[in-house]
Amino acid sequence: MTTMESLIGLVNRIQRACTALGDYGGGDNAFSSLWDALPSVAVVGGQSSGKSSVLESIVGRDFLPRGSGIVTRRPLVLQLHKTEDGQQEYAEFSHLPRRRFSDFSIVRKEIQDETDRITGKTKQISPVPIHLSIYSPNVVNLTLIDLPGLTKVAVEGQPESIVQDIENMVRSYVEKPNCIILAISPANQDIATSDAIKLAREVDPTGERTFGVLTKLDLMDKGTNALEGRSYRLQHPWVGIVNRSQADINKNVDMIVARRKEREYFATSPDYGHLSSKMGSEYLAKLLSKHLESVIRARIPSITSLINKSIDELESEMDYLGRPIGVDAGAQLYTILELCRAFDKIFKEHLDGGRPGGDR
Ligand code: GDP
Ligand code: NA
Ligand code: MG
Repeated sequence: MTTMESLIGLVNRIQRACTALGDYGGGDNAFSSLWDALPSVAVVGGQSSGKSSVLESIVGRDFLPRGSGIVTRRPLVLQLHKTEDGQQEYAEFSHLPRRRFSDFSIVRKEIQDETDRITGKTKQISPVPIHLSIYSPNVVNLTLIDLPGLTKVAVEGQPESIVQDIENMVRSYVEKPNCIILAISPANQDIATSDAIKLAREVDPTGERTFGVLTKLDLMDKGTNALEGRSYRLQHPWVGIVNRSQADINKNVDMIVARRKEREYFATSPDYGHLSSKMGSEYLAKLLSKHLESVIRARIPSITSLINKSIDELESEMDYLGRPIGVDAGAQLYTILELCRAFDKIFKEHLDGGRPGGDR
C-alpha cells in the first residue's frame, strides 16, 4: 500500500467515525466541519443519465438497486478500499457493523431495505446517508457519494416539492468547496440541457472541481465524436464512458466483462481510438483516486487543525461525562478521541514528509 493510498484510507475512517456520532454534515459542531473539510466525490446527474452504471463500473460489481422512477432516495456514501490481489471481495454497512456481505445481490436488497426503513416505503427522499464500504482487489481507494437523480417532474405518489427537495439535497453536497463533482451527462442529450452541468456550473463556475462524464457514447452515430466541439469546457478533460445497455443488464452481462467490452470499444473505435487511454470507467476511477489524493494532501494542514479542534471539544465532553465510560455515548466519544489523536499523528508525519507510521 502506498503512502497516498493510505491517506484516502485514513480519511475514510475519519468520515466513518464522524458518522458513528450521528453526524453527516447536517449538524453544527467540530465534527460537521471536519466532515466538510474531508474531500469526497459526489455523483450528480439527471435520472437515467447512467449514474448507477458508472458507479457499478468503477466498483466492478453489480450491487445498486435499479428501476424506473427515483430509485436512490438517500445519499449512499460508498467507500472503496483496495485489498491485496486474490482476496475475497466483501461489503459492510456501517448500520450493520459486524456483518460481512459477500453476495452483492444481498447488498442491493439491504440498500433498498435500509432506504425504506427511513423513508417508510413512501417515495420520499431523506438526507440521512447510508454508509457502505467495499473491500476488493478490483477497486481503487475512493469515496463516492451517490445522490438521487435530478428530475424535472414529480411522479405519481410523490409530492410536487420532490423536484426541489432533490435539487436542494444534491446542492447541499456539491456546494461545499471540498466536494469533487462527478457530473454525469448522457451523450444522446444536448449538454446545454444537462442537469448535472447546470448545477455544477452554478456551484463551481470555474470548473476546477468538476469532472464531466459523458455516458452512452455507444448510442451515438458512428463518425461523430461526442466529446469534441460541443462539450462544455471544464478544467479537467471530459471522460467518455460506455456502460452496459439495458439489454446487457437483462442478459446479466458480468461487470468485469462489461469493463473489458468498454476497453475494446475505445481501443477499436475510429472516433475515440486516439483517446482510448483517457477513456472508460477504469481510467475514470484512477483519475478520481489520484485527484482525491492530491486534494487531501493539499488539505492536510486544515484537516489537522480541525482534528485538533475536535480533540479539544471531545476532551471537554469527556470531562463532562466523566470516566470510566460505562455509558454508550461516552465509549463512542472515547473511541473517536483515540482515532483523532492517531490521525493527527499520522497526518503530521505526512506533512513532514516522514515515513508514515500508519502504513503497512
Ligand atoms: P441512473 O438513473 O442515472 O442511475 O441511470 P442507470 O445507470 O440506471 O442507467 C439508466 C439506463 O441507461 C439503463 O437501462 C442502462 O443500461 C442505460 N445505460 C447507462 N449507461 C449506458 C451506456 O453507456 N450505454 C448504453 N447503451 N446504455 C446505458
Ligand atoms: Na434511475
Ligand atoms: Mg440510479
